[in-house]
Amino acid sequence: MKSKRILIVGGGTGIGLCLAEQLINLGSTVVIASRDIQKVQSVAARLGNNASAYQLDASDEQAVIRFFSDLGEFDHLVVTIRPDHLTAPFTDSAPADSRAAFDAKFWGQYYLARYCVDTISTDGSIVFTSGIAAERGYQGFSCTAAINGAIESLTKSLAVELAPIRINAVTPGFIERKADDDERWEMVQNLGARIPAKRLGTQAEAANAYIYLLQNRYTTGTILTVDGGELSA
Ligand SMILES: NC(=O)c1ccc[n+]([C@@H]2O[C@H](COP(=O)([O-])OP(=O)(O)OC[C@H]3O[C@@H](n4cnc5c(N)ncnc54)[C@H](OP(=O)(O)O)[C@@H]3O)[C@@H](O)[C@H]2O)c1
Repeated sequence: MKSKRILIVGGGTGIGLCLAEQLINLGSTVVIASRDIQKVQSVAARLGNNASAYQLDASDEQAVIRFFSDLGEFDHLVVTIRPDHLTAPFTDSAPADSRAAFDAKFWGQYYLARYCVDTISTDGSIVFTSGIAAERGYQGFSCTAAINGAIESLTKSLAVELAPIRINAVTPGFIERKADDDERWEMVQNLGARIPAKRLGTQAEAANAYIYLLQNRYTTGTILTVDGGELSA
């Protein structure tokens, strides 16, 4: 990872931010992009000289095209976008909110892959983010499930079409949003999750899966699950 230039779209918070910190410790430079420029600029300032920030709404196709023409060459793309409206009971949810979620998480990842191909290293890789709702039903997660299922299919297909660029995806299980996230743990138990690890995953544990996929040059078309065993239970 030393001296690699890595773009993390959605990296101003959560798993993506934790990944940015891990990559800087490994000697990479990171570019963090999301919609809120003040947020990503202040995050980049805190991370130091090896981080920079860009404004980008990945659901806006023309903005993605302009973004890559400004960015220049880079080695790897990671996407950790989480849409604003994601979980709601199917019969209560507004279809417009589900479309907006697809626009951000599915079409965002699609546009980023589609328009990075001229400037990403042919020795590099793309790591998308899915989620275990692609594989198991949970109350209120139908939109999430559909988006994640689409991303996992896209990952396998692009691994063939975009080779030698490698395309992989991380499928997080239930990851804490802050340290000792009791509220999220209670929500997860109410959903009926059976997690053999008996706890939420940490953001560092999720971030570590992206590092593996970025580093391992014989890995492509892989969906790497980090779920404490939830899908096996
Ligand atoms: N945490 C979990 O338990 C869990 C479980 C399964 C799957 N996942 C998936 O893992 C990924 C990361 O989750 P997280 O909880 O770490 O996310 P998060 O911190 O809640 O959100 C990540 C970032 O997405 C950015 N974003 C949203 N819409 C965007 C857009 N249109 N263009 C560019 N950036 C956009 C937001 O920044 P701005 O507001 O500045 O744009 C935000 O900083 C997501 O795909 C999530 O669905 C997470």
